[in-house]
Amino acid sequence: MHTQTLSPDTYLQALVFDAYGTLFDVHSVIRRCEELWPGRGQALSQLWRAKQLEYTWLRSLMQRYENFERITEDSLRHACAALKLACEPRHIAALMDEYLRLSTFPETQDALAALGDFKLAILSNGAPAMLQAVVGNAGLNTTIPTVLSVDSLAIYKPDPRVYQLVVDTLDVPPANIGFVSSNCWDACGAKSFGFTTFWVNRGGAPMDALGVTPDHIVQNLAGIPPLLKR
Ligand code: 2OP
Repeated sequence: MHTQTLSPDTYLQALVFDAYGTLFDVHSVIRRCEELWPGRGQALSQLWRAKQLEYTWLRSLMQRYENFERITEDSLRHACAALKLACEPRHIAALMDEYLRLSTFPETQDALAALGDFKLAILSNGAPAMLQAVVGNAGLNTTIPTVLSVDSLAIYKPDPRVYQLVVDTLDVPPANIGFVSSNCWDACGAKSFGFTTFWVNRGGAPMDALGVTPDHIVQNLAGIPPLLKR
């Protein structure tokens, strides 16, 4: 895996993390999916997540914003229909509740603790109530004091206005902000905006071809602190 040390002139004051897939494992819902539909958990989780992201992009282009809670429920219903899984209101309620209790990745807590010298924040598509719940349930509210949602802008990533929200809120220039995401397209969007970016490529995926590339690629969050040793 390619990594590089930050050049000495790069001075990061703040580190901003994507939430879903980066700090929290969206596929931790598989266990509950498996209980509801044995043998179909993996397929449902993959399609649910893919449709969820697709709906954020489509609704942004259509200028028909609905918050991420609605998007998450709509995409779950669609994924169940596509996989021909009989889906009752109690199933939807159970899986939406799982989204508030997603697991962190094994290295999340230690990596964040090692980055305590930086201003830490989350920038997420998530609706404020969803984010508050998942961050609180993971015990991260004091570790990450600032949690920013796209909801106030009514547009989703990777619209540049979303990344500008970090600059305006933290009062730190883009050049001094590091942005961390496991979603390659999100890291590319943040790079295009002007952040120094870290792509967490846990699965060894190929780079998205979007005209910009993230500055750093790490296998998981534990790869970030060594790059930022001052
Ligand atoms: C997030 O904004 C993209 O799902 C991702 O948290």
